Amino acid sequence: MSTLTQRKVPGKTENASPAVVSTDPPENKPEDRSAKFKTHPPQLKSHKVFVRIILAGCVFALVYFTSNKEKTSTLAGYKEDIPLREHKLICSADSFTEAEFEKHPKCISACKRFVTDNLMNENEISQLQELARKIFHNHDESSEIYHINSNSIALDDVTKSIHDTIKSIQPKIIENIAQRFEISHNLLYLTSPTYFSKITNVTTEYSESMHRHHYDKEIQKNVHYSVVIFLSNYKRNFHGGRFIFVEFEKKKKKNHIVDPKAGRVVVYSAGGENTHVLENILNGNLVSLTLSFTCEHEETTER
Ligand SMILES: *[C@@H]1O[C@H](CO)[C@@H](O)[C@H](O)[C@H]1NC(C)=O
Repeated sequence: MSTLTQRKVPGKTENASPAVVSTDPPENKPEDRSAKFKTHPPQLKSHKVFVRIILAGCVFALVYFTSNKEKTSTLAGYKEDIPLREHKLICSADSFTEAEFEKHPKCISACKRFVTDNLMNENEISQLQELARKIFHNHDESSEIYHINSNSIALDDVTKSIHDTIKSIQPKIIENIAQRFEISHNLLYLTSPTYFSKITNVTTEYSESMHRHHYDKEIQKNVHYSVVIFLSNYKRNFHGGRFIFVEFEKKKKKNHIVDPKAGRVVVYSAGGENTHVLENILNGNLVSLTLSFTCEHEETTER
């Protein structure tokens, strides 16, 4: 743009405009050059400049409008059966603070997200679904959340079986995170928020917050890794409700969609690189279990 504006300045056009000079072969003598210039009538020149300005404007408009468009791709479709699908990411500045890096050099390494349909077996899925049914049995309409604090005393059979189930699935989840993030499994601890949720089209404060762009560390700063186990099926048990990772690159927005599916597990580092949003539910229930893991031993809810 700057060369174009320079050319509009009267008198300067005849002189060394960089684009014109560069087209001259180096062996050209100065006399030849001036002779060549004199053959161009001035009207043609201003016409050329005008065309170039218009062209530059068009290119700018094209770049501007296409870059504002959001792109959408499917990370995990509901018809797919995915052994493992992984996105390696550049950690955002807030993912792990310098102090955290120093404190937990072996627990904090890369940033990524992955989806797997193979981690949970049929038996575990139906066990978790059964628990969710018991927890949410008498409130069918609105969105609900049930926090699990394995520290608390199990007062009844349901609470006890929730604790037992979480305890039984925990080792392999931790093992899986450790393997994918290339860290040691004995450095990870279950922390809060860990909860069952049922999200419907009747929103609550909690479900509203899920429908806004956020990343987990922004809500709970001790969380380093997040795990979501979906327990109901997109298009079968509910419509809407897709889990969407959103990346912003300058002005470009890119969506990576995960269709929830019973037994599907999504694991991601909790920083800004994994900003996400839950699409509004149109009808039905999206049931899931969310587990949070930390490298901070003091923050564990597991004793
Ligand atoms: C909310 O979902 C229920 C079924 O889950 C459906 O009958 C109802 O029409 C939905 N309401 C709206 C406003 O979409």
